[in-house]
Amino acid sequence: MLGVIGAMTEEVQLLLGQLSDTSSSVHAGITVTRGDYKGTEIALAQSGIGKINATICTQMMIDLFKPQKLIFSGVAGGLLPNMQAGDIIVASHVVEYDMDLTAFGRRHGETPGRERLIECQPDLVSKATAAFDAAFDGVEGGPNLMLGTIASGDTFVQDIQKLRWLQREFAALATEMEGAAFGHTCRLNGLPFVVIRALSDSSSHSASADFQQNLSRACENSFQLMDRMIPTA
Ligand code: ADE
Repeated sequence: MLGVIGAMTEEVQLLLGQLSDTSSSVHAGITVTRGDYKGTEIALAQSGIGKINATICTQMMIDLFKPQKLIFSGVAGGLLPNMQAGDIIVASHVVEYDMDLTAFGRRHGETPGRERLIECQPDLVSKATAAFDAAFDGVEGGPNLMLGTIASGDTFVQDIQKLRWLQREFAALATEMEGAAFGHTCRLNGLPFVVIRALSDSSSHSASADFQQNLSRACENSFQLMDRMIPTA
């Protein structure tokens, strides 16, 4: 069983529409649909936005559906100037950027006894990059792929100062609102995970308008990658 989570309706609906032999149940207000995706049994859930929703959803899915591996997929805001909407970021690491114990001399994102950057499982990262090649190699005008850190926090970032800080403090490529909470929960449960995001905006002044304009194209790109990845994961 593979666990797949997205935050918003748009981020799960393409996959949901392609599942066969489905059964759904609701736990902690979250609908989980079990089904077959091209020969792989998956449990798919829409967590809702933000780190608390992602944490609850991930732990619930682990406890009740016993996935061996988990993938979080959806959209993110890019943090580097040369990125395009639709480009794909596969997280090598995730960090909870709004964890702040700097008053105790710690670095942003760091808590006692835990690593600051949580590493995604390397095998799932390579499967995601191979799936990118399978989906987009030779596609005219197709997205670019970047591998690196995704910084998560409970803010929709629409602010050039904040985006620069995220890039410089964490060497992050993209920001979103769930990945590190999901990753943290998977790590505490000893389960392999990866976060895959397509860019909807560039986290700067026009981010919310760009987000609305690019959401469906970004979701289509992450779905194309998931389509190739799920049967191999
Ligand atoms: N998800 C997509 N774009 C985002 C942004 N700019 N900030 C936070 N989460 C996002």
